[in-house]
Amino acid sequence: AGRLVVLVSGTGSNLAALLAAHDDPAFGARVVGVVADRPDIRALDLARDAGVPTAVVRLGDFPDRAAWDRALTEAVGVFSPDLVVAAGFMKLVGAAFLARFGGRVINTHPALLPSFPGAHGVRDALAYGVRVSGCSVIVVDEGVDSGPIVGQEAVPVLPDDDEESLHERIKVVERTLLVDVVGRIARDGLTVEGRHARLGRARAAG
Ligand code: GAR
Repeated sequence: AGRLVVLVSGTGSNLAALLAAHDDPAFGARVVGVVADRPDIRALDLARDAGVPTAVVRLGDFPDRAAWDRALTEAVGVFSPDLVVAAGFMKLVGAAFLARFGGRVINTHPALLPSFPGAHGVRDALAYGVRVSGCSVIVVDEGVDSGPIVGQEAVPVLPDDDEESLHERIKVVERTLLVDVVGRIARDGLTVEGRHARLGRARAAG
């Protein structure tokens, strides 16, 4: 099965969905490691309860972002991932990380990209007044939520929504989308061609 490493910063509801899926051999992937940028989060408890090894790499423990990024790269590399999934990971990975894992890192985001990238996608969509938002799974590149889109689902914004109610409704759809996309990548591969990501392996040249 494909080896998944999941990057987390918080509640871990997306991680929980991946852990619920990975016991089925037909899923095609297993979570082999969970790496966080902070201790004492529910996502780490979920990983430990599932018997999955964890690591914590805190930005504040390093002299600068580049050193942190190299340590994160090492911590993830220990698990020899086929695919890295940022599931509520609230930091940007850097050059060293992408040099090692680029094209094999996906991120889930609670808005319909390219609208409302960044740390407050739900709040920003509400503030703008959109009537439809949703979630996106993208390939991570060097920008902020700017990589090729692998999957998206729409979620209506209701008149009385606040950030919490809309985010909760998005997360229900988001975890199903993420599990679906990860399973399809594990079984079929992921090819990035310029701005476009598609399922399936790259054809060998020649
Ligand atoms: C998810 O909705 C994810 O899309 C979002 O954080 C939430 C994490 O939930 N990520 C971002 O906003 C990244 N910019 P979880 O910890 O319960 O999976």
